[in-house]
Amino acid sequence: MKSNNQPIGIFDSGIGGTSIWKEIHALLPKEKTIYLADSKNAPYGQKTKEEIIALSIKNIEFLLKMNCKLIVVACNTATTNAIQELRAKYDIPFIGIEPAIKPAVTNSKTQIIGILATQGTLNSELFHINAAKYKDVKIIEQVGHGLVQLIENGAINSPEMTHLLHSYLDPMIQANIDYLVLGCSHFPYLIPQIKKILPAHIQIIDSGEAVAKQTQNILREKVGFSEAEDNQPIFYTNTNPKVLKEFLGVEFMVEEKEF
Ligand code: DGL
Repeated sequence: MKSNNQPIGIFDSGIGGTSIWKEIHALLPKEKTIYLADSKNAPYGQKTKEEIIALSIKNIEFLLKMNCKLIVVACNTATTNAIQELRAKYDIPFIGIEPAIKPAVTNSKTQIIGILATQGTLNSELFHINAAKYKDVKIIEQVGHGLVQLIENGAINSPEMTHLLHSYLDPMIQANIDYLVLGCSHFPYLIPQIKKILPAHIQIIDSGEAVAKQTQNILREKVGFSEAEDNQPIFYTNTNPKVLKEFLGVEFMVEEKEF
């Protein structure tokens, strides 16, 4: 098996993609990772497709300068709006993240599932093509207005968060969903809050583990695993690093940088 000591690049509109980074780091601890939190431009969810493509290109150019061997687009909004264009523009392998509708639909007994995502994801062509495959299942789509901003501000446990989550989830509970798909990489951080609201029989699904496994597959099949000594992850943010630091814990290096 070939080796490749270059780092893995990961980006998101902000802090949320660290939920994906954690899965990648847990599965592939020897890989060096460089994470970009584009918090200055968060949220991506209300931007146009063209804006999301331009921001993704900006992030990728930075990661390419850091000599990354593969890029994980740890953002559903950027994946569903830009991944086709990015794959056409660059030779480097990309791994994207999309709402995990398939496992929810396959296992749903009520044949009614809910999805909480950004407007950009739910409006995207890629999401529509995917959702249209499951005509027999009712998919209740809900935009999580305001949730990303509250997470970026470190207000996960605020009364405002609880209020917003109730307003998005209560109608889904009443509609008899048995699966809730988290279609935004920020939302796994809300799972403790969401569990307080949902009845125990409703399963929550996110895509983090699947993305980590896919990263492992691409390294094995195409790119090569790292054998380097230095595997200390680096996190860059283009805003105040305080909240990102709190999310990651003291052992990780977070640097504020223009990009
Ligand atoms: N974390 C992102 C996602 O998975 C985007 C959130 C946003 O910036 O709106 O969609």
